[in-house]
Amino acid sequence: MPRILVLLPVLFFLTLTSPAPAMGPGADQRQLIEMPDRMKAHMLANMRDHLKALDEIFDALAQDRAGDAAQIAEGRLGMSSMRAHGAGHMGPFMPEAMRNFGTGMHRAASRFARAVETADIEPSAKSQRALYAAFRDITANCTGCHDAFRLH
Ligand code: HEC
Repeated sequence: MPRILVLLPVLFFLTLTSPAPAMGPGADQRQLIEMPDRMKAHMLANMRDHLKALDEIFDALAQDRAGDAAQIAEGRLGMSSMRAHGAGHMGPFMPEAMRNFGTGMHRAASRFARAVETADIEPSAKSQRALYAAFRDITANCTGCHDAFRLH
């Protein structure tokens, strides 16, 4: 039997057991953020509510309830939600870039609420596109922060 065939299972075994390379597509490059466990739990609960809010916003838009959509965006994600989310307590644990994604998201959600109202008052292809763009400004902050940071 050629030597290479004898060696193949050995090479295969080595591939399976060697540790994942530090770099590469599967590697986790996100920065780990240290904060007290209770605060992490609070932040993750906020996160789950963020996603729920997006879900409820689209439900309201689909049912032609623009006022409700704007209210959910402002109250649960926008600038008005910052105090309820304890942003003041968590901010100090976040690196500046992370805080910027957070405030970016709150600001974008408030702008989105205004864009929903505008599209409702002046329905047009242009105001509709502005609404989509404003929505995307929210989610760009979600994904930007998720790509860069982790809690565990
Ligand atoms: C300031 C940074 C930041 C922003 C902005 C942000 N997130 Fe997160 N989110 C995180 C971090 C950090 C985690 C934890 C990820 C990990 O440890 O793997 C997380 C986790 C989550 C989770 C999982 C929650 C759980 O219980 O595990 C959801 C859902 C989520 N985010 C949704 C959102 C949505 C939707 C938005 C935007 C509307 C958003 N997040 C904006 C930082 C952020």
